[in-house]
Amino acid sequence: MPEPKPSSGRVHLVGAGPGDPELLTLKAARLLAAADVVLYDRLIGDAVLDHCRADAERIFVGKRRARHRMPQSAIHELMIDRARRGLDVVRLKGGDPLIFGRAGEEIASLVAAGVRVEVVPGVTAASGSAAERLLSLTHRDLAQTLVITTGHRQDGTLDLDWPTLCRPRQTLVIYMSHYTTGAICAGLIANGLAADHAACLVESATRPESRHITGTLATLPAMVAATPIEGPALLIVGEVVGASAGLVG
Ligand SMILES: C[S@@+](CC[C@H](N)C(=O)[O-])C[C@H]1O[C@@H](n2cnc3c(N)ncnc32)[C@H](O)[C@@H]1O
Repeated sequence: MPEPKPSSGRVHLVGAGPGDPELLTLKAARLLAAADVVLYDRLIGDAVLDHCRADAERIFVGKRRARHRMPQSAIHELMIDRARRGLDVVRLKGGDPLIFGRAGEEIASLVAAGVRVEVVPGVTAASGSAAERLLSLTHRDLAQTLVITTGHRQDGTLDLDWPTLCRPRQTLVIYMSHYTTGAICAGLIANGLAADHAACLVESATRPESRHITGTLATLPAMVAATPIEGPALLIVGEVVGASAGLVG
């Protein structure tokens, strides 16, 4: 590990984008090149980590579904410890740190410990997925509202605000939804969206192995169930999906 500097350190929570290393911001690349310590998650690719200083301490704190590699409190302690030693720390997160990134907890723990913290935004998976599909999330003729939500079950139940999700003229982007695609589509139909409303699952957007499955609320669940999904995936629901279908392979 590099020698501690005399000044007190700081932590940058940095967004790494959805996968394509060229979607890293210039600021993220600069901070990575300067950091003494880099804590990174599972979805961060080698091409992004190649921006790290050769002698930087790299700590994998990745989490896998239902199998947390490192408790969140241990991640907080690591960042605080390194910053108090006067080191510059980058906490590298997939996509944007402030969207389903547990950044709130990390910021609160750092501030409570008196550590300086700054956030560097990244391209979130919704933007990466939409760009890849040539899909305008807020197409002016089709969607006035964009809703970003999670399809992850809390305590085994899918606790979604169905009436809000089913409002007309809006696009839904549902992160962490691949295991719950069937329940989400059924819930949307039961709460008023048409069964032939367009829906799309995007897997590993902006990565070479990217795939998509496009259908309707009625047909998508079976199509997703029949496809082994290995990478991170999200659902996009709305008329904008139908408008973009066929524009790109
Ligand atoms: C814990 S959340 C982190 C989101 C991240 N902070 C962001 O802004 O994109 C992880 C979820 O993001 C979505 N995701 C991340 N990268 C993705 C990608 N390349 N393609 C599709 N979905 C992705 C998936 O829904 C995945 O389960």
